[in-house]
Amino acid sequence: MSDKLIIFDTTLRDGEQSPGASMTRDEKLRIARQLERLRVDVIEAGFAASSNGDFECVKAIASSIRDSTVCSLARANDRDIGRAAEALRPAARSRIHTFIATSPLHMEKKLRMTPEQVHEQARLAVRFARNLCADVEFSPEDGYRSEPDFLCRVLETAIAEGATTINIPDTVGYAVPELYGSFIRMLRERIPNSDKAVWSVHCHNDLGMAVANSLAGVKLGGARQVECTINGLGERAGNCSLEEVVMAVRTRRDYFGLDVGIDTSQIVPASRMVSQTTGFVVQPNKAVVGANAFAHASGIHQDGVLKARDTYEIMRAEDVGWSANKIVLGKLSGRNAFKQRLQELGIELDSESEVNAAFARFKDLADRKSEIFDEDIIALVSDESVTPDREHYRLLALSQRSETGERPHARVAFAAGEVEHHAEADGNGPVDASLKAIESRVASGAELVLYSVNAITSGSTESQGEVTVRLQHGGRVVNGVGADPDIVVASAKAYLSALNKLHSKVERVAAQG
Ligand code: KIV
Ligand code: ZN
Repeated sequence: MSDKLIIFDTTLRDGEQSPGASMTRDEKLRIARQLERLRVDVIEAGFAASSNGDFECVKAIASSIRDSTVCSLARANDRDIGRAAEALRPAARSRIHTFIATSPLHMEKKLRMTPEQVHEQARLAVRFARNLCADVEFSPEDGYRSEPDFLCRVLETAIAEGATTINIPDTVGYAVPELYGSFIRMLRERIPNSDKAVWSVHCHNDLGMAVANSLAGVKLGGARQVECTINGLGERAGNCSLEEVVMAVRTRRDYFGLDVGIDTSQIVPASRMVSQTTGFVVQPNKAVVGANAFAHASGIHQDGVLKARDTYEIMRAEDVGWSANKIVLGKLSGRNAFKQRLQELGIELDSESEVNAAFARFKDLADRKSEIFDEDIIALVSDESVTPDREHYRLLALSQRSETGERPHARVAFAAGEVEHHAEADGNGPVDASLKAIESRVASGAELVLYSVNAITSGSTESQGEVTVRLQHGGRVVNGVGADPDIVVASAKAYLSALNKLHSKVERVAAQG
């Protein structure tokens, strides 16, 4: 059995299914390049058949990534598989990941198919996919809740038809570690041709056990691929977190005896990029990538760490990329230095005019903030004012007045397409007043379901505030992110960014549909 553990990242597909986490093509491309720098083995770039937008994202990633295998999800039908193959055509290495549900509940209630029909469809899907791509992964959706005899038959057929990876999803996060590990082992032992495929685990975190279940699938079950996402992003309680699984296998190599090809120094930059792009904030006590993951507050711990680091630290902060948080540019930096830093961060702006707009914003920020960090630059290029022609709503100016004992008041100027709007409103605070002013003109009717502010870099009050706004409207949930040293301005930007997402009505087919 191979002693390499394959890391399959699905941030851009399963992670993006998290309500509000949808990303633009440029954002996905930027994250894909960071995943390549992280040296993940497989990047699941999307679900090509779900929408034209997803198709274009998979294609763009397939054209740009050279070192990782690029994968597209596809339901078990010819159209989906054909679309996946077409989107993956430019890839240096590609994989088609096809799936169909196999649990009694999903087959009867969702698919309305008999087990025999599902078995046959799985056979035909893998056969068709293998004709188009040498690397084919098959997943029995809700596999962990499937009837073992039936599942064994379907998987044996998938392998016989040429599936090179067999993935066992715990789609609803129902598993517990020992049972999931022995389930994988049972399948591998009972299926006669099981040694012809790599076995993979795919765990959701509904009971908080996605990482533990995945590791049990590896250790007890003999799986050699883990499917995971940066920061554990994903539907409901999320997926297995990449950084936790990788660092567990690395730190406890004595126990797992496996190698991972990941460049761990890229973990924190990847975590930050995903969090800043999606607006899904990382909790401070999150393992490996949380702001407190390496902070020692108690006197006893601090004393111990100063005397000998390994008294309380099992990993080094630098090894997962915490030291990457460095000052990169300042007020005197020129356009070339700025452009080079964009390149190093894997950020490609489409035109010289976008670089100029980003540089102008950088200069503006450097006037107000002496130290500019990588995170500031990422926030800056995510800002709509760098890509004005692509956004419908854009903030032009904001002023607000707040004084003890007075009701705060805000005036906002913003563009909606070609039209300039001026609005003003009172509110409970300056943020409330600003958002009410915008809403008084846009009349989106959307419900604000989340508002959060974070310091982008260190805890210092000089840091830029990063605001996430989540809006819900007509069954859709979107996140908007805005950054600025002034948190009222950041809030208005975040609100307009969420309105932009509501405005671009991208319809797509659900992966679990
Ligand atoms: O959770 C799941 O079952 C999935 C499959 C589509 C692989 O994401
Ligand atoms: Zn999933």
